Amino acid sequence: MFGPVDRAGTNAYKWERDKGKNLIPLWVADMDLACPVPIVDALTARARHPVYGYTHPWPSLNQSVVDWCQQEYRWSIEANWIVWMPGVVPSFNLACDLLAKGGRVLVQTPNYPPMLQAAERQGGQTVSLPVRWHDQGWQLDWHQLEHEMAHPDCHLVLLCNPMNPNGAVLRAEDLSKISALCQQYDVLVCSDEIHCDLILDPIQHYPAGAVAGLEERSVTLMAASKTFNVAGLGCSFAIIPSPSLRIAWQQRMTDLLPYPNFMGMIAAEVAFSSCKDWHGHLLSHLRGNRDLIDSTINSLDGLIYRPQPATFLAWIESTRPGLSLDSHFIKAGLMPSEGKFFGQADNSRLNFGTDRATIQLAMQLFADYWRQNRPWEF
Ligand SMILES: Cc1ncc(COP(=O)(O)O)c(C=O)c1O
Repeated sequence: MFGPVDRAGTNAYKWERDKGKNLIPLWVADMDLACPVPIVDALTARARHPVYGYTHPWPSLNQSVVDWCQQEYRWSIEANWIVWMPGVVPSFNLACDLLAKGGRVLVQTPNYPPMLQAAERQGGQTVSLPVRWHDQGWQLDWHQLEHEMAHPDCHLVLLCNPMNPNGAVLRAEDLSKISALCQQYDVLVCSDEIHCDLILDPIQHYPAGAVAGLEERSVTLMAASKTFNVAGLGCSFAIIPSPSLRIAWQQRMTDLLPYPNFMGMIAAEVAFSSCKDWHGHLLSHLRGNRDLIDSTINSLDGLIYRPQPATFLAWIESTRPGLSLDSHFIKAGLMPSEGKFFGQADNSRLNFGTDRATIQLAMQLFADYWRQNRPWEF
């Protein structure tokens, strides 16, 4: 079901950027896997109609999101809380523009590079919340979080949950603490949950807007794009329960953003209503790829991979400061996402959203290179 797909001739960014360099592309976060057939069929059918004009969201589209949130997250939302967006990156930038008041925006690190840049790009300031491995999990520093939230210029926390690059998922108790602090210090939350449907282990993801106390002070960003591999269709949605926040958001986006791509909306509806089996098979395929990375990387000296419950991304850590793992992945014939862009130059991110044979080959090449060259010793 998830065999190799030749992306040649599709101008795939992941494959084209380093074409001719003989590198297996394990960087940008889309998957080399065919999206579900019902999505292909629905897009093909719509493409046959020759007018591609501005298209409003429609009732069954919104209902598919309402049903999905109920089924996956036991979150009862109203259809009119959903605001369709042309992507998650523009959405969290809009949040910084609209909600940060030019102030300090709290962001976990390491993190997806556009999240690290958004506050500054919108006239504010990024304040890093380093996430550290502690007690068998990636943890925020709660003292630091409270200290930063108490700052009079802090009005917004940008959460990434599940986290990119490490794949961690915030627990219910983490979100309750964040909610209590947000209420105490009058801070809003914009939560990027683009990876939330990629939970590989039997744990629950809790959307920010579903957390007690955050309903009226949150914007939750989701999309079908990562999970159903339709990221090129430029479409996501924000769930905003507060009417005043939602109206302000909609007014601001009219000035700045285009309509979402209607093909992306079609794909989202089909993904959320007709692809349950495919989704289950995908999670099991990704678990197998994650296991391969786990067994290979953790058999090598000088490296740590801490498998996490979510995403098709593996954050590989070097135990030797200053080693620059990226350069070694490249010498071995793999193209990772470079750690420096996530705020940690020693580490690298691998995208395992591809077929099994490619991950096997990548791990073999890397293990051979690492054992022969022993870079951790120098
Ligand atoms: C955490 C996170 N947010 C947003 C995006 C991109 O979202 P979009 O393509 O909808 O702008 C990515 C893509 O890798 C991501 O990992």
